[in-house]
Order: sequence, then C-alpha cells, then structure tokens
Amino acid sequence: MGISVITGASSGIGAAAAVELTRRGRSVLITGRSPQKLRAVHEKMLSVAQQQSAVPSPIAADLASLGGVRELADRILDGFPQVDLLVNNAAVQPSRRQESPDGFELGLAVNHLAPFLLTNLLARRILSSSGQVITTASSSHTKGRFDFADLQLQRGWTGSLSYGRSKLANILFTRSLRDSTGLAASCFHPGAIRTDINRDSPFVRIAKPFERFVLGTPEKGADTMVWLAERASGPTPEALYYADREPAEISDLGRDPELAARLWAVSMELTGAGEWPAS
Ligand SMILES: NC(=O)c1ccc[n+]([C@@H]2O[C@H](COP(=O)([O-])OP(=O)(O)OC[C@H]3O[C@@H](n4cnc5c(N)ncnc54)[C@H](OP(=O)(O)O)[C@@H]3O)[C@@H](O)[C@H]2O)c1
Repeated sequence: MGISVITGASSGIGAAAAVELTRRGRSVLITGRSPQKLRAVHEKMLSVAQQQSAVPSPIAADLASLGGVRELADRILDGFPQVDLLVNNAAVQPSRRQESPDGFELGLAVNHLAPFLLTNLLARRILSSSGQVITTASSSHTKGRFDFADLQLQRGWTGSLSYGRSKLANILFTRSLRDSTGLAASCFHPGAIRTDINRDSPFVRIAKPFERFVLGTPEKGADTMVWLAERASGPTPEALYYADREPAEISDLGRDPELAARLWAVSMELTGAGEWPAS
C-alpha cells in the first residue's frame, strides 16, 4: 500500500478526511503550515488507526512559496516509493490583497500555483502507483474569471474575485490533468462548512457564534473527498466535479477548454515547471 497525501490537513476538511481515511486503513501523510496543529491531527489519526506504524509523521510546509512546494515534493519523493492519492486541499481566503514570497497574488499562489507545481513534481510517482489526484474546489468558482493582462490582480482586487478565480483554476486544472496527462483526476465542492478558511474576515468573526446553525461540520465537508478517494483509481471517474457525491454543475468558464489550456501554459511558466511531468 502506498501513501495518501493531503495538503491543508492541519485543520478543517483536510483534517477530518485524514482521520476518516486513516480509520478506513489508509496510510495518510498530512501536511499544513502549523506543526502544532499537525501534531494534534496526527494524534487523532493514531487513535483511530488499525496499525499505528502505518501512520506517517506529518510534514510541515508553507505552500505559499514555490520553494516550499519543491521541498515538500522532495521529502515525499525521498520517503515514499508509492503515492496512491494526492489531495490538493490547502487554500486561503484572504480579506485583503497580499503577495506570496515569489510576488504572486496570494490566492493564486496558494490555491492554484502550489497544487499545480506539487502535482507536476509528484505526477510520475502517482502515475507509476496508478494513483489519483483530487482537488478541493468550490461552488465559488462561479465568481471567478481570468484577465491574463492582470493575473496578479493589481487592479480591482476583491476577496470574492481572488478566491472565486482560484477555485475556477482548480476546476480548469483538473480538466487539463484529465485531458492531457493520463492522471485520474477529479475535484469537488465540500458544501458550506464550519472551518477556519475565513479566519481573516472581521465579518466572519462577528458571525462565528451563529455558524453552527447554518454551516456543516468538517466531517460533512470531507465526505465527498473520502468517497472519491475510496473509489477504485485507474480509469478516470466519469465526472470532473462533484458535490454531495454527485456530479455537479460547472460554470461556462470552467468548461472552456481554451481557457484551461491557456491557464496551463501560464502556470507552467510562472512555476518554472519546465516539463510535464517533472523528471
Ligand atoms: N469551508 C468551506 O465552507 C469551504 C467551501 C468550499 C470549498 N472549501 C475548500 O476546502 C478546502 C479546505 O479548507 P477548509 O475550509 O477546511 O479551511 P481551513 O480549516 O482554513 O483549512 C485550510 C488548510 O490549508 C492550509 N494552508 C493555508 N495556507 C497554507 C500555506 N501557505 N501553506 C500550506 N498550507 C496552507 C491550512 O494550514 P494551517 O492551518 O497550518 O495554516 C489548513 O490546513 C479549501 O480548498 C477551501 O477552498 C471550503
């Protein structure tokens, strides 16, 4: 058995999925920024594991920088000969425009360029393991659009555009993965879920006490991810984008093959990936 890698598994939906997949007997490698939060999730995983020795130690990595993504990929490739599953789940939802250490708009860097590069670097290993790639997208992709003349959103940045665009990128990326790389790939919307994703927003801090009445649990958010992960890998799942374990509707832009191809070319350039898959 190989490992299942989940990014952004130090909290929220990724953490809930890591615990559930471990309980089901998978060997899950969790990553996130905070070593302390990773330790807490790791302890929960150990408490449900059928075999504690099959639970890999977490790896802390900051995926805002391309260097951080490369370091994480190196550690996975050095430590694990088989990668059955990569879940690109880590994301941010900033409330003001910020830039990554490489000078990219932060939502683009963490939510799209990091999964793009990580998947590129692990692609050979996933293919040789007959593995699959799942990406956590969102129904917010309908608010996204691309202006390639202002990819870093220097003008007219809004939180909704930044986040929506990055989630649209998740869907377009999944489309290209399936159409052009031979990787089994799918993505999904987890629902409106009570997590830390909005931690930056002053409005959400006020609304926090009421969240439990309207938002689902992280376990509910992880359900479709776990369901996709447990489906036999190999032939690609029939739909690209799911919600509640069902194929879900994608916006017109998310179905545009030319936009997907253009984003792919730009992402190869921005990440300095060089070739696909990386050797
Ligand atoms: N919650 C919702 O209602 C909802 C709806 C639709 C889609 N989603 C998607 O679900 C996924 C999981 O989000 P969540 O709601 O579970 O939020 P969350 O609890 O905030 O989890 C986000 C995860 O991403 C990690 N992360 C953030 N920045 C990172 C960086 N620079 N480098 C490495 N890891 C980083 C966080 O690590 P640290 O905590 O260590 O910083 C955390 O583990 C995201 O892709 C989000 O877009 C969520």
